[in-house]
Amino acid sequence: MPQRKLFVTTALPYANGRFHIGHIMEYIQADIWVRHQRMGGHMVHFVGADDAHGAPIMIAAEKAGKTPQQFVAEIAAGRKEYLDGFHIRFDNWHSTDSEENTSLAQQIYRDLKANGLIASRTIEQFFDPAKNMFLPDRFIKGECPNCHARDQYGDNCEVCSKVYSPTELIEPYSALSGAKPVLRSSEHFFFKLSDPRCLRFLTEWTASGAVQPEVLNKISEWLRPDDSGKTALGDWDISRDAPYFGIPIPDAPGKYFYVWLDAPVGYLASLKNHFDKGGAKAAGEPRSYEEFIADPAVEQVHFIGKDIITFHTLFWPAMLHFSGRKVPSKVFVHGFLTVNDGEKMSKSRGTGLDPLKYLSLGMNSEWLRYYLAAKLSGRNEDIDFNPDDFLARVNSDLVGKYVNIASRAVKFVPGGKLVGSFSAEQDRSTRLLDEIRNLYEGREYGKALREIMAYADAVNERFDGAAPWKLLKEGKQEEAALVCSECLEAFKVMTACLKPVLPQLAAQAEVFLQCAPLDWANAAKPLGAGHVVGKYEHLMQRVDARQLDALFEAPEAAGQQPSPRPSPAGGRGSEPGGEALAPQITIDDFVKIDLRIAKIVNCEAVEGSTKLLRLTLDVGEGRTRNVFSGIACAYKPEQLVGKLTVVVANLAPRKMKFGVSEGMVLAASHGDEKASPGIYVLEPSPGAQPGMRVR
Ligand code: MSP
Ligand code: ZN
Repeated sequence: MPQRKLFVTTALPYANGRFHIGHIMEYIQADIWVRHQRMGGHMVHFVGADDAHGAPIMIAAEKAGKTPQQFVAEIAAGRKEYLDGFHIRFDNWHSTDSEENTSLAQQIYRDLKANGLIASRTIEQFFDPAKNMFLPDRFIKGECPNCHARDQYGDNCEVCSKVYSPTELIEPYSALSGAKPVLRSSEHFFFKLSDPRCLRFLTEWTASGAVQPEVLNKISEWLRPDDSGKTALGDWDISRDAPYFGIPIPDAPGKYFYVWLDAPVGYLASLKNHFDKGGAKAAGEPRSYEEFIADPAVEQVHFIGKDIITFHTLFWPAMLHFSGRKVPSKVFVHGFLTVNDGEKMSKSRGTGLDPLKYLSLGMNSEWLRYYLAAKLSGRNEDIDFNPDDFLARVNSDLVGKYVNIASRAVKFVPGGKLVGSFSAEQDRSTRLLDEIRNLYEGREYGKALREIMAYADAVNERFDGAAPWKLLKEGKQEEAALVCSECLEAFKVMTACLKPVLPQLAAQAEVFLQCAPLDWANAAKPLGAGHVVGKYEHLMQRVDARQLDALFEAPEAAGQQPSPRPSPAGGRGSEPGGEALAPQITIDDFVKIDLRIAKIVNCEAVEGSTKLLRLTLDVGEGRTRNVFSGIACAYKPEQLVGKLTVVVANLAPRKMKFGVSEGMVLAASHGDEKASPGIYVLEPSPGAQPGMRVR
């Protein structure tokens, strides 16, 4: 195959927070793909950047008493630690708040305008008279017009999930100042996506194989005309009024590009910055940025998550095409990562698995790369991080099957000098390498790793079957050396196969094997008789379950006494309820917890969960609360309706897979479920009223 020229990106993270594990997953997915391409001798420029602009970042910076530039610079400074820690090797990292991005975004806008695809209209919007600015939907709050829950956002209700526009809210207020917003009109600029040219182009491009079938399915809804011949694809509002942290719109004083207009342009800006700094040249690219990006043979590939599909498969390709630029060759969409089956990670708040904590506990980043790769496929589907599964896979596959082969086999090869002809194995190796390579190409990492482990099983069986330790006792040293040389050759092939996922381990293995850096071309060729391998040094530790315990320990508990653990059933038996008492607290600690009487006005099963019940609680607030409780094994919904109970009323709302939980119902259980099963919801004595405080 001739050398491919690739330009690869991952989504640009908002610069208002540090990386969470969802970001790291996306980067690992892309990094594996890039390393696989490089092993095939292809040229790749792999770039990322911070997505710096927009109202939320501007407002967060103001709250922190910083300029937006200072604010994003501080976030940017923390990026390297994560990327290096997880062996994610971008060729360049830049920012959308940069000169390159400003001039590229403005030029694209001018080109679209010259092409007759920019329109302007006056629209009415909520304006905060105290802050003197137009309010984004997320900064307008009020009472839900549907269920009357208070303090809901301007775009949808978190209690009843109704979608509406901010003007429908009852008694709206500004989340910034608390002021009552007023309607004001202002001129906005639109990208005319409703133009028939756009529809024609997008229908063609989306069907050209640039997106996965399930993604095409989803976006077709936007492009399919209804009975009256209209599509859901309307013109896109691309302007915002000052004050706004963004890029000024040419010839329109006081107007800025909406953040999503300049964000994907940041891909090009980072690439240009990489070229202009000489990074591309150093990597063997002789051309300038302009020459490179104009080359039709260059493949432009974007890795993104499922929540930003429309921006990348409708708006972005249209922006590029109608400004006379190269369009994406592929947009690879992945699903979301959840941790412990639980909460979907919110955008601003990384929960579950803190990547830096992972590293600081001394956990090997390649364990995580391996585990995530084992779960990833080429489809847009969610995956879950499960600690038990993590431990089992890393320990049994990676350490037990792969690493083990090298340590066991090398002992029976005197002086590390390989013997044999290896001709029989070479065919098999070539086939395996081809297959694995194809799987990486299609992002079927899980399948690739399963194939590699099946091969490892076969090699281990061959080793056990030959029982070289017995051969040695029988004086058949040469036979033992022969089998074990084959095992080491197989270890080399597996190392090449795992190299995109485990770059550091592969580098160590190459030192042990005393071989040239492995790639797809040289890996099938046997090291051969007479090749001398190095001294074996332990390649990888096992995961210790205690590391996982520490990783998931709540941050408040970190550094304190170990959390109480259930005592074994039938053990000393002195611990009440099967659990040691928690560390002593003061009355001040206790009053922080606001316990209230709640009436269970409704209770229902949660579709898709065997553990949870959805409770609707009246806590005397003039509205109801939605609370999820893991008591489905103990109660039928109808048993609870109408009962009073106790709820932790000031617990931060928690976004769960099934909705937001606004509190926690108290229930008793034994520390050891097996010794004494059952969950008992607390009930106050008769007479208590919803809303009364429990103290
Ligand atoms: N700034 C925009 C992207 C602009 S691209 C021109 C954005 N940023 S983000 O920080 O919210 O998300 C960055 C990427 O992380 C997106 O691809 C998003 O889908 C991905 N993920 C965010 N949470 C995720 C998980 N829980 N799991 C996997 N990926 C997730 O959107
Ligand atoms: Zn509602």
